[in-house]
Amino acid sequence: MSQLIAVGHYVPERRLTNLDLEKMVETNDEWIVQRTGIKERRIAADDEFTSDLCIKAVQNLRERYPSALEGVDHIVVATMTADNYCPNVSSQVQAHFGISDCGATDLNSACSGFVYGLTVAHGLICSGFNQKVLVIGADAMSKIVDFKDRTTCILFGDGAGAAILESAPTSDFLVSYTSTQGELASNLYCTGLSETIGPNRRVITQNGREVFKWAVSSVRKGVGLILEKAKMDASQLDWFIPHSANQRILDAVCEKLGIPSDKVCSALPYSGNTSAASIGIALSEGVLDQKIQQGQTLCLYGFGGGLTQSGLVCRLHQLN
Ligand SMILES: CC(C)(COP(=O)(O)OP(=O)(O)OC[C@H]1O[C@@H](n2cnc3c(N)ncnc32)[C@H](O)[C@@H]1OP(=O)(O)O)[C@@H](O)C(=O)NCCC(=O)NCCS
Repeated sequence: MSQLIAVGHYVPERRLTNLDLEKMVETNDEWIVQRTGIKERRIAADDEFTSDLCIKAVQNLRERYPSALEGVDHIVVATMTADNYCPNVSSQVQAHFGISDCGATDLNSACSGFVYGLTVAHGLICSGFNQKVLVIGADAMSKIVDFKDRTTCILFGDGAGAAILESAPTSDFLVSYTSTQGELASNLYCTGLSETIGPNRRVITQNGREVFKWAVSSVRKGVGLILEKAKMDASQLDWFIPHSANQRILDAVCEKLGIPSDKVCSALPYSGNTSAASIGIALSEGVLDQKIQQGQTLCLYGFGGGLTQSGLVCRLHQLN
């Protein structure tokens, strides 16, 4: 079994406000806030990449939990914006911290990545293959955003969230739900070596309306299913921590599921959509603010490119 024992996060110093965006594309603060709930996002420096964001999130974790990195024997990094095709980001993190005898896996499930990362880490520990796994969700979305595309550039920001899972007699992780609809991938993509999905623009490209509709209906259904699997109703959750894509998506999902807005933990207004980082950032900030506490029950729910979804219901035994 596995339990969460430590969290940390990082967002870059540079702020990109809605007023800044007004000077770059034809948009305005009122439109952006009303359609998305986002007021500003953090943007990595020109020489700051995903591995740097990961390292800074782990530094934050180490400052808060000084001995937590000791004994880490696997690093899982969830990202769609790796610095390089090779080496993977997890090896860059391993090298920076000088962690020996440690596995290194990158996975790409876009905005669902952090929850997929936790799910994989839980599996590695439950199998007995590993004892302590560092999971990081991180994305430098500003490196793949077209800042001339007003339908997309208003949404995304950069950041990283980190967590450590350790072997334990009882599990924090009660129920998981994962799903993907690869047939809908062309609604949200960034091409790599081929153009099989759409025109090769090497920037994040989306059909906003379609993604919006898909997210509202799929996330509502997925969260309903995971709660059913956990034999719980929404009122038994202390916190719902969804991927911070868009406030209107979250409001629509929560309304249908009966989750009050004061039970939603999200870093959306001041970080924007940070893709794989958003749930880790919200979790880490929530613990720092002492909102999220040991003994509480959480539902983490990621959704996005793929189009993927991944949810976990957890009860925190140790994390503080
Ligand atoms: C992108 C998004 C905010 C656009 O909002 P929308 O209400 O769907 O807007 P539409 O695309 O229908 O466009 C409405 C109008 O606003 C305009 N518009 C688009 N972007 C604009 C902007 N940044 N500022 C001002 N006007 C804008 C459009 O051109 C359109 O004008 P028209 O009616 O004259 O044609 C919304 O679709 C969305 O949030 N989708 C989900 C995206 C997402 O979360 N992706 C990541 C998932 S992990």
